[in-house]
Amino acid sequence: MKATEIKPGIYWVGGIDWNLRNFHGYLTQRGSTYNAYLIVDDKITLIDTVKHYLYDEMIERIKSIVDPSKIDIVVSNHVEMDHSGGLPKLLELAPNAVLYTSPNGEKGLRQHYKKDWNFEVVKSGDSISLGKRELKFVLTPMVHWPDNMVSYLPDEKILFSNDAFGQHIASSERFDDEYSLEIAIEEATKYYGNIVLPYGPQVKRAIEALSDLDVDIIAPSHGLIWRKHVDSILSKYTMWYKNEYLKKAVIVYDTMWGATEKMANALIELFENADFNLKVYSLQDAHISDIMTEIVEAEYVCVGSPTLNNQMLPTVGSFLTYLKGLAPKGRKGIAFGAYGWSGQSIPYVKDELEKAGFEIKGVYKAKYVFDKQDMDEQLAELKREL
Ligand code: FEO
Repeated sequence: MKATEIKPGIYWVGGIDWNLRNFHGYLTQRGSTYNAYLIVDDKITLIDTVKHYLYDEMIERIKSIVDPSKIDIVVSNHVEMDHSGGLPKLLELAPNAVLYTSPNGEKGLRQHYKKDWNFEVVKSGDSISLGKRELKFVLTPMVHWPDNMVSYLPDEKILFSNDAFGQHIASSERFDDEYSLEIAIEEATKYYGNIVLPYGPQVKRAIEALSDLDVDIIAPSHGLIWRKHVDSILSKYTMWYKNEYLKKAVIVYDTMWGATEKMANALIELFENADFNLKVYSLQDAHISDIMTEIVEAEYVCVGSPTLNNQMLPTVGSFLTYLKGLAPKGRKGIAFGAYGWSGQSIPYVKDELEKAGFEIKGVYKAKYVFDKQDMDEQLAELKREL
């Protein structure tokens, strides 16, 4: 296995997780990579490692360039084990290497691995000399854990951004210009929607801190390296942290005897007639992490559940629990559902949407069966608003 040269003396030496399909509950249908980067200078430097089971792959790639026992500096931009999992074995191989990390990085690594490594703690604005090059650090807490930081090479204008700007894509291509931009942006959107979405204010602070840096290449810790479409991914992140949205609605529902599905169809017709971009998901088939991809840029999220045993359907409850944790800001919510006698599911859906931060724009019910005239009357106000 080989390293991939990014710029002279700077290499990708990560691991490709071709078969990964589930990343703590997030479906990763395209697999993923854990990107480690090697800088060959007077001081040989490794930025991040890989998940523990891809350690041998990383070492083989490093060996194609240098003897890994000669590594002088290791930078840990993030404690999470998909990036730190290779550290214990690597630091056995290179015991004199100095491990640079943030203050929370040191705490987190000590708690995870119980090792007294040669820690050197850095803060935002600190830089170290690698010989001919300088390596700078900027702390980016909560993008995605309290320990996160990014590293930057001013001479080559490369930002090693760790989780930020990543995408779960396993591929033999390493760069954005070698791959479908549409898929790269789709996977970056899914990554943001399922991992980064709760941390908009922290993303804002991170982007502002990075705006002073001249960046030609963004080298994240997952997926493709951005070198042609840096502006595209930066403008997407800016749109997302600002909670801007498109004229788009997402309709999510489950149904028992079909009445809630017919209500969903009435909403589809309404949004279609108002020229909204529309995504529709039955929770009998769709996965919650795929739905989140579409919610990132949606103005309206409509959630429907019939009442079963005085509750929502469990599929809808599971989706709303996930949505509440990710909590997209500044969006409009609609609750709907069919019922027989008590109808608790509809206020439950409304309450959960409110707890997730949605402004409720409509609550619609159908007793036993769908009645078009009744639904049209219920939807009249929303129709005027759209
Ligand atoms: Fe890719 Fe937060 O780890």
